[in-house]
Amino acid sequence: MDLAAHVDDRSPRGIAATVARLVRGGDLRPGDRLPTVRVLSAELGVSPATVSGAWRALAAVGIVTSRGRSGTVVLPPPAAWLPPRYRDLAGGAPARLDLSSGTPDPELLPLIGPALTRVAAQRPSAETGAYLASPVVPALEALLRESWPFAPQRITVVDGALDAMSRTLERVAGFGSRVAVENPGFPPLFDLLDHLGLERVPVTLDHQGMRPDELRNALETGARVVVVQPRAQNPTAVSMTATRARELAGVLRRHDAIVVEDDHSGEIASARDVSLGVFLPDRVVHVRSYSKSHGPDLRIAAVGGPATVLDALVARRMLGPGWTSRLLQHVLVDLLTDSTALEAVAHARRVYFARRRALREALATHGVLVDPGDGINLWLPVHDERTALVRLEAAGVRVAPGTPFRADTPSGTLELLPTGSGSVPETARARDSGTGDHVRITVGLLDRETDEVARALAVAATV
Ligand SMILES: Cc1ncc(COP(=O)(O)O)c(C=O)c1O
Repeated sequence: MDLAAHVDDRSPRGIAATVARLVRGGDLRPGDRLPTVRVLSAELGVSPATVSGAWRALAAVGIVTSRGRSGTVVLPPPAAWLPPRYRDLAGGAPARLDLSSGTPDPELLPLIGPALTRVAAQRPSAETGAYLASPVVPALEALLRESWPFAPQRITVVDGALDAMSRTLERVAGFGSRVAVENPGFPPLFDLLDHLGLERVPVTLDHQGMRPDELRNALETGARVVVVQPRAQNPTAVSMTATRARELAGVLRRHDAIVVEDDHSGEIASARDVSLGVFLPDRVVHVRSYSKSHGPDLRIAAVGGPATVLDALVARRMLGPGWTSRLLQHVLVDLLTDSTALEAVAHARRVYFARRRALREALATHGVLVDPGDGINLWLPVHDERTALVRLEAAGVRVAPGTPFRADTPSGTLELLPTGSGSVPETARARDSGTGDHVRITVGLLDRETDEVARALAVAATV
């Protein structure tokens, strides 16, 4: 298209507005390449700085992205139904190799077809439609209790870990309450806290989990709820050690706070299922998701803890969905007892472990050293987040930006980051703790091209 012919106002703002109108009207489509700065500035008779100013403004609001030497392209529109930080994560151009999603490898999930067939043959129809029966099928409750890291007063099943956290937080934290969260941590949790009017108190991590001194500070500043991922922390991949659990429990004992544990990786984590509930069973709500081990579309997480929290949660849920499909609960029971399915999950755990070790070793050959970590994600320090993303995009690799994972920035910060060294203001940088510029790589999806990806990451990470 002859872009110059559409431009009336030749200021950076006017040029940017023209492109935005053409994108909205469908004349420019996602993936279309804009003319180069040199070509368009010559056609319009303006300086190259004027056109690059327009391109920067468009990139800042997510309408286009720069692909380095391959030019500037139009991005797909953000999905309005996504919460802000999910939108930040969803932005960016499609790539040849997408390692941005934080989701399990579909090839490594246990097969659901045979389980469905077996469950259908058993026809548990009488019980599947009962409005007043327990929302958890007894066989699943028994399996959960056997494998729970402590003896919970109550256990139930909800529609995923985020559902569990949302319902728990609604019970235990009122508008304006302070909630201690890991920094960096899970972006949708931060959106949820914003939505519920809860104030985040960031707590950084070291290689053993949440730092006890920082947790103490958070509790002393009035946090009455603590949300923690005990294993394969997203994004840092840190798993809490048993020693650290004991230390954190010691800190918590001196305060009146509820702990919500988000074991989002569940059975694909290699670390042990360490829980603060061993020390504080009447104050810990432990959540175990089956999304990463058995498939996000099962939409099943178990939640266990004190009756005071769980009974209210279940009662409230009876006035909404009521229960999680018992048909799917029976499918999960089958997958948790069938030897082939059990072996598939154990295999997935080994493969994820091997993939992260392979990438770690490949990165080390380029002088980039990262902690062993656990689970499917790797948190890579980079000199400058935006530069790293652009370089990786040019290499055909998509990873997640680090900014949405930061607990100490408001949502939408990603759009405001300038390109150039050190995209996060120095004042907001934590001392150590993995909160400078980073990107998150879902290494669990990296089943090929490990050496090439390591090379691209090493280049992306440097000055
Ligand atoms: C840390 C963390 N918590 C919760 C979730 C949501 O899990 P679910 O699918 O069980 O809602 C995820 C998903 O990736 C996650 O990474």
